[in-house]
Amino acid sequence: LSKLGWPNLYYSRAFSVSSSQSKYLTYRVEDGVAVITFDTPNSKVNTLSFENSEEFKQILEKFKNDNTAKAGVLISGKPDCFIAGADINMLQACKTTEDVEKVSTESKDMLMDVEKSSKPIVAAIMGQCLGGGLEVAMSCHYRIAVKDKKTTLALPEVMLGILPGAGGTQRLQKLVSLPNALDMMLTGKNIRPDKAKKMGLVNQTIEPLGPGVDEPKVNTRNYLEQVAIQTAKGLANGSIKVAPRKKSMVDKVTERLVSYDFGRNYVLKQARDKIMKLTFGNYPAPLKILEVIDESLKHGYDQGYKAETKKFGELGTTKESNALMGLFHGQTHCKKNRFGTPPPLKKIGVLGAGLMGAGIAQVTMDKGYSTILKDVSEAGVARGLNQIESNFNQKVKRKRMTSFERDQLLGQLDTSLDYSSFKDADMVIEAVFEDLGIKHKVIKEVEAVVPERCVFATNTSALPIEQIAKGSSRPEKVIGMHYFSPVDKMQLLEIITHKGTSKETTSAAVELGLKQGKTVITVGDGPGFYTTRILSFMMAELLRLFQEGVRPKQVDKLSKKFGWPVGAATLVDEVGIDVASHIGRFMKDEFGDRYTDADVSFMDDMVDGGNLGRKSGKGVYLYQKGSKDKPENPAAIEIMEKTKIEPKMELTDENIQWRLASRFINEAVLCLQEGILASPIDGDVGAVFGLGFPPFFGGPFRYLDNHGAKQLVERMERFQAVYGDAFKPCDLLYDHAKDSSKRFRSD
Ligand code: NAI
Repeated sequence: LSKLGWPNLYYSRAFSVSSSQSKYLTYRVEDGVAVITFDTPNSKVNTLSFENSEEFKQILEKFKNDNTAKAGVLISGKPDCFIAGADINMLQACKTTEDVEKVSTESKDMLMDVEKSSKPIVAAIMGQCLGGGLEVAMSCHYRIAVKDKKTTLALPEVMLGILPGAGGTQRLQKLVSLPNALDMMLTGKNIRPDKAKKMGLVNQTIEPLGPGVDEPKVNTRNYLEQVAIQTAKGLANGSIKVAPRKKSMVDKVTERLVSYDFGRNYVLKQARDKIMKLTFGNYPAPLKILEVIDESLKHGYDQGYKAETKKFGELGTTKESNALMGLFHGQTHCKKNRFGTPPPLKKIGVLGAGLMGAGIAQVTMDKGYSTILKDVSEAGVARGLNQIESNFNQKVKRKRMTSFERDQLLGQLDTSLDYSSFKDADMVIEAVFEDLGIKHKVIKEVEAVVPERCVFATNTSALPIEQIAKGSSRPEKVIGMHYFSPVDKMQLLEIITHKGTSKETTSAAVELGLKQGKTVITVGDGPGFYTTRILSFMMAELLRLFQEGVRPKQVDKLSKKFGWPVGAATLVDEVGIDVASHIGRFMKDEFGDRYTDADVSFMDDMVDGGNLGRKSGKGVYLYQKGSKDKPENPAAIEIMEKTKIEPKMELTDENIQWRLASRFINEAVLCLQEGILASPIDGDVGAVFGLGFPPFFGGPFRYLDNHGAKQLVERMERFQAVYGDAFKPCDLLYDHAKDSSKRFRSD
């Protein structure tokens, strides 16, 4: 670079001709190009807000009137984030559709100003370029993206129950093909720079500076700035022209097709049918996005812009967008360590190389921790290693990791059959069999070798942590870290503290979870803690439904229609019928008939017959290798018939769906009442990200706030009259039913 005559890039920002300071944006002119830098103080990300939009408008005005600037560059001061989107508080503060429409109109006007600028503006993208951020970039005249790992472009509004409202639905259609535009808007998926270039979303990509460079990120950002300045100059003097997107044959055919009424209707119907099949119409946003696209295809972009604002207004005040935005808030809340400074964590021991242990070791070593995986047998260790290796191979296949990185990571993992390598561990996470005796045995063995400071975490799925801590000589160091299967894919980590757990221990566990990339909820101790408890209460009802003659396929169809991503019957096969039976018995001992008064021999008979779920190839369904089709298992149906009872009430679709969901929701509220949950936010995040509670409801607590506790109580009372205390609403639920002004969530 110095050969090209550029100064040391790290300091290049000092070479400004003129500069003026404001809170979020800075403006300077270099080489005839105005460089507008967005850098929100004291924040890792840039988001668009009312305040910085005002600044942006002023700077844009200044740029227009600045005769020394022939072109502009818009860049972020943060190497990891161009603009991460609009601040969703702006929308949450809106009370009416008109308020929401106003947000859209104002941002649209601002970006129209950018687009209409007579001087070209280049968006220099490095790091996240999401939602409103991508809309800003699309309004510029040229986009350059750095090909580093953190750079992603996406329109994820659909995940918040809204649509891109600052002109994004229209500009995207101009830049990329219709199928690509639909795919991006309907799924919200992340697009990497290479793909973005191929699609036409960006005009140019550049390589990041290599690891041999000092401060590679900062210098890459400054290098990007210089490339963008040169490009902007070229665009202004005409030496660089914006090449139109190369259209494939398919693009051309699609364009032709949608220019006819029948073709457009056909394409949009296909998309609509697919959405309905996947979502049962539970999510309004994707359908409204299609309506906007329809409008622009029919009547042109001007009408499209208008339709976008109108539908944005409608979506911004739905219960679904409120729920999805609440989840976003919840996730942000659960990405923070609120338990003080954690002790240093370098070496992590994982005990048990089974399904969970291997998964935990994988996500730990993946984040650079020195990790040791121990099992009792060579076969156990080999199984665990095999699991990790095949997961990494998948990543290599999907280009998420290079084979060099895979080999390097695998080389860093230590495996062991004895405890000696745990002698300097900062934390040990056990994932051995679910048996209190074995947990007590390993805790003693671990404590005999590890240093005093070492935290002992257990991945038990239901045993109270206090009982496990009774086997420890340092109960303050004992904590629950409940991961979900498959560990590398599931977002949630449920941390369970017992009465004696120290704050430092909690902070260490939360810190590790956050570093592993998890969304972390912290809950109190008790049988099944929060997630296992609420799920198992629902599963207890499933058992009774089976006995009353409801069949797995019917349950699955109804649960999916309700909004669960996985049907309840399939879920039982995934968890494992032996595991579910073990937990069920334990919960019945703890909670008695309130848990279930149904005949649990179904589970025993299933386990005795080797019907353990997916892992044994047969559970309530039969699984055949290479086939997606899973017929109901005749042996399971026979066992269900053996314990058949007459249904006590009509088995309507609604009754089936709500007998399952009401037990789940009521138990969640009882967990809050009992102090197992510290806050409803944790409860909502845990239910959605750990158990798949329908995201468009936003979690059990958000559901009650948005739809009213009263109607749930009324349903439960109807069920209670027939089935007894299993459906008794808890006191806190009654309180909210009596006073509709009470809300669980304050956000
Ligand atoms: P698994 O049966 O796949 O693995 C257990 C492993 O522990 C085996 O490899 C076994 O050889 C090893 N082991 C047993 N005793 C040991 C000892 N003394 N020292 C070292 N290794 C020992 O079991 P899985 O499914 O991985 O479950 C482990 C724990 O995680 C259990 O407490 C379970 O309840 C919990 N859990 C399981 C979930 C699941 O979906 N499978 C989800 C969340 C928690």
